[in-house]
Amino acid sequence: MTDSSATAAACGCQCDGASSETELAAGLDSIIGEYRDKPGGLIPALQTAQALFGYLPEEVIRKIADGFGKPVSEVAGVVTFYSFFTLHPRGKFVVRVCLGTACYVRGGKEVLDAFKKKLEIDVGETTPDRMFSLEVGRCFGACGMAPVVMVNDDVYQRVKPALVGELVNKILSGTAAAEVKEMA
Ligand code: FES
Repeated sequence: MTDSSATAAACGCQCDGASSETELAAGLDSIIGEYRDKPGGLIPALQTAQALFGYLPEEVIRKIADGFGKPVSEVAGVVTFYSFFTLHPRGKFVVRVCLGTACYVRGGKEVLDAFKKKLEIDVGETTPDRMFSLEVGRCFGACGMAPVVMVNDDVYQRVKPALVGELVNKILSGTAAAEVKEMA
């Protein structure tokens, strides 16, 4: 790694960021070694690397491309094609607002606007304190409960724009899952 400050600070997990540059580099070498000779190994290698770093910094993409003997542009193309890869550090809480048809017509766009306003970020951005990232999705398979929002692995149903501020505050205080999963 050439950018230790980026890798240490960007960790999207809830650890204390103590993984050293050496440990991360060794982890990436191990990932490349495990997948480079496997057919279709590039995507699981990228997924595993993203889990390790919290996102896929440019230098990680470059090293994976080297390890797989592929052009950097090809690997970068794979990363940008799939929405589950991210080139930027994510927040502790990744908010994904569904904009599938059912959610859209039942107020998903207004819910998204409410999150933008409350968090003061746009789609694809992370708050400066790295607590929240805001993303959109296209159907989480819970259309009957639209509009739906996922926050990490938790699903919030029938979310009302007027209650988004309250939901964010409860997520921060750790009480959201118990109290407002069903907002109808
Ligand atoms: S359209 Fe939102 S869950 Fe299906």
